[in-house]
Amino acid sequence: MNEKITILGVETSCDDTGIAVLNLRPCEDNPKKINLTVLSNKLASQTDIHNEYGGVVPELASREHLRALLPLTEEAIRESKIDLPNLSHIAVTAGPGLKGSLLTGLNFSSGLAAALNIPIIPVNHLEGHVMAAFIDTQLGFEPTKAFPFLTLLISGGHTQIILAEQFGRYTLLGETLDDAVGEAFDKTSKLLGLGYPGGPEIERIAKAGNPHKFNFPKPLTDKKNLNFSFSGLKTAVSREIEKNRQVNNEWQSDIAASLQDTIANILCIKMKLAIELTNVKKVVVSGGVAANHQIRKSLSELCKSQNAVLIVPKPEICTDNGLMIAWVGGLKAHYNYPFDDVIKVSPRWNLTDLHC
Ligand code: KG4
Ligand code: ZN
Repeated sequence: MNEKITILGVETSCDDTGIAVLNLRPCEDNPKKINLTVLSNKLASQTDIHNEYGGVVPELASREHLRALLPLTEEAIRESKIDLPNLSHIAVTAGPGLKGSLLTGLNFSSGLAAALNIPIIPVNHLEGHVMAAFIDTQLGFEPTKAFPFLTLLISGGHTQIILAEQFGRYTLLGETLDDAVGEAFDKTSKLLGLGYPGGPEIERIAKAGNPHKFNFPKPLTDKKNLNFSFSGLKTAVSREIEKNRQVNNEWQSDIAASLQDTIANILCIKMKLAIELTNVKKVVVSGGVAANHQIRKSLSELCKSQNAVLIVPKPEICTDNGLMIAWVGGLKAHYNYPFDDVIKVSPRWNLTDLHC
């Protein structure tokens, strides 16, 4: 067990550059508990650049990461009030994600780790999202209290239900057979002529809409398994938009509210089943879509009705960030997890296969 860890987290799997500095140490009264202090957490968003194209352009994403990495790291170090040589480790996202973006972050981190002569730890981006819920600077982290739990991972690239048995051991219980839930938000936003990423735009205009105006399909919700399908819903929404195109705020808001309500319903139906099948009464929701207030509210009501505890990170921790990468890397360092000296990026790295 490592005594004191001061770790830099580097996240560049998609279109956000995230850099954070985190300190972890065993609790003096209870060595099984880890206390943590967030020294800095910086984000450089590329939203404005990709917005123009209605989605992430991989080449532009790599170029922007390259531009942002050094100044953002300097800013994070300055804000953390430590000197670079005080860093004990660097954690970097090694996958899954866009290959060029991952490589940019890894090359930068490898150079810095070599210059400082400190270990570099590969982190799975999805594990970052899953564990982000336990970044608690007040209470600290105690594995025996945290595990087991069910995770609903909802992002632009993933829709999965995972059973987290212990740190590093995750079982996939179900996932989308086609599109990720975030894609349904992003595609609808694009069709409505709104910006990228679509989720926050849809959420914004849905506030004024009627969630029961359109009866969109809920694929696979009649099946007793934990898989999802969003392509049929996405098609139904785009047909409605094409068929009935009105440049009218009320109509747009009704589409957005109905889509959001349908998605919240689908997620609740599957999570209810997951709780029933596993009898695990703790649910963690993570990934960018978990920032959605309607979805958070619906899942909170569901968990209450099932006597389950719901843990959802703050919205800014739900979306991509460097802190969750520093956190998982810090835990790996704390528990002396073995990792290869030479790290490669793994654009399709599964959470259930944590050996990079
Ligand atoms: O986790 P994330 O930041 O990146 C990936 O790993 O994919 O998730 C991005 C996704 C996008 O599809 C975005 O539209 C969605 O999360 N998103 C939201 C909200 N904020 C971000 N979806 C619904 N409501 C939101 N407030
Ligand atoms: Zn993500």
